Amino acid sequence: MALSQPLDRPSPAGRETVKNPYSALPNWLYPLFVVVVLSLFGGYAIWVVFFQHKGAYAPYLSPFYSPLITVGPIPPALWVAWAPLVFRLTCYYYRKAYFRSFFGHPRSCAVPEPNRKYRGETVFPWVFNNFHRFAFYATVVQVGFLWFDAILAFDFGGRLGIGLGSVLMLANVLLLSGYTFGCHAFRHLAGGELDCFSCSLAARARHKLWRGVSVLNIKHDRWAWASLFSVAATDIYIRLLIAGALHDPRWIL
Ligand code: FES
Repeated sequence: MALSQPLDRPSPAGRETVKNPYSALPNWLYPLFVVVVLSLFGGYAIWVVFFQHKGAYAPYLSPFYSPLITVGPIPPALWVAWAPLVFRLTCYYYRKAYFRSFFGHPRSCAVPEPNRKYRGETVFPWVFNNFHRFAFYATVVQVGFLWFDAILAFDFGGRLGIGLGSVLMLANVLLLSGYTFGCHAFRHLAGGELDCFSCSLAARARHKLWRGVSVLNIKHDRWAWASLFSVAATDIYIRLLIAGALHDPRWIL
């Protein structure tokens, strides 16, 4: 049974345009969303990482700067932001999204690849996407630091309190954890290359972990977008506090 119906009019390139059977939204909307959001975020990240030296407003620390390392005139974000940025750039979900949206790759495996020279991720520069697992290790360490920062964001000079910044930092690290620990590479690490899930204590533990990662992995794309927005929102909020453009509403015990 055909899931989609060819339109009467073939596209100029000779390839048939088909209606998306799973969504009432027009086909161009998703690629446009990906191009606009990733371009804006990429431009913003470059501006922060290379040109901004301040990312802290006590007790808050921007996720671009965690852990805070200050050495001479080098922008602090340069030491740490590479890990989460490479992690996103090489993420299986984002790869699918940007290959299809920026480079016009087909949105379905059944559609022939229009670029005959395309060799997948076996040649430069796409071969670097295979480093995703190593970016995952580095990002796990950074997420640990972000949890530490989120806890410190409730410490107002030795007094327990809660500010809008505390809430943003906590929400951000929750979303980043959902994204990071739903990673396909982590799912493979947890449960891959096992012939038997019940044959030993270690295998049963890995099975449990694999099931937990799979729960997060199902909606990996949603975690990816939500955490991208939360990183940007947290950084922008702290940057506005630093600039004195905002007052942080707080409740201190
Ligand atoms: S696959 Fe998306 S973060 Fe690893």
